[in-house]
Amino acid sequence: MAGLRLSKITIALLLIVYHVGPSKAVLFNQLPKTLIVTATTKSGDVLHAGEDKFTVTWALNTSLPAGADANYKTVKVLLCYAPISQHDRKWRKSNNDLKKDKTCQFTVVKQDYSATGKHEYTVARDIPTASYFVRAYALDASGTQVAFGQTTDANKTTNIFEVVGITGRTTGIFISAIVFSAFSGVALAFFYVVENKKKK
Ligand SMILES: *[C@@H]1O[C@H](CO)[C@@H](O)[C@H](O)[C@H]1NC(C)=O
Ligand SMILES: *[C@@H]1O[C@H](CO)[C@@H](O)[C@H](O)[C@H]1NC(C)=O
Repeated sequence: MAGLRLSKITIALLLIVYHVGPSKAVLFNQLPKTLIVTATTKSGDVLHAGEDKFTVTWALNTSLPAGADANYKTVKVLLCYAPISQHDRKWRKSNNDLKKDKTCQFTVVKQDYSATGKHEYTVARDIPTASYFVRAYALDASGTQVAFGQTTDANKTTNIFEVVGITGRTTGIFISAIVFSAFSGVALAFFYVVENKKKK
């Protein structure tokens, strides 16, 4: 009898868990592409983190029926790794389950949804050297992705631009500083020896 009651409770709990959460996975290949996203970057452009800017615009595809965006509450625009910069890097890997997807790791802007929008973005100082495109997601009231748009094609081959990160550059400066100081040390030793020889 106790066992039966327990199993009834278990079943009730399972039903609650099933209905309340965990929420259903959002699959990228199921998302409608309703936003038209463009950026002022051209294919092959090289942008410097912390310095260069581009402007991104998004607009709801006007051939959609009215009200198609009724549940869009927020638009989130992101910088996303192009396939060439994901190769052999599982920490940037794409996953159709958007909770596990690591393609788009950097927020360009997140704001209340409007059917058209525009934002000027200065490439953030922490963006690493890589190839990128821009993607925008429309989020519903619960923050779940319900639609998207991107600057590249489905295969992510067009309109790819490059970012040169700050760490890459500082490492370069750092190395030349080491080389330079090593060289001046050698030069100093050289002149010291020459001067000493002259004195004799
Ligand atoms: C807009 O939507 C229509 C109908 O779904 C589609 O045929 C068209 O390609 C879309 N336009 C763009 C620029 O994505
Ligand atoms: C993407 O690549 C596949 C296979 O290489 C090709 O069949 C398809 O036409 C491509 N799609 C686009 C949108 O370029």
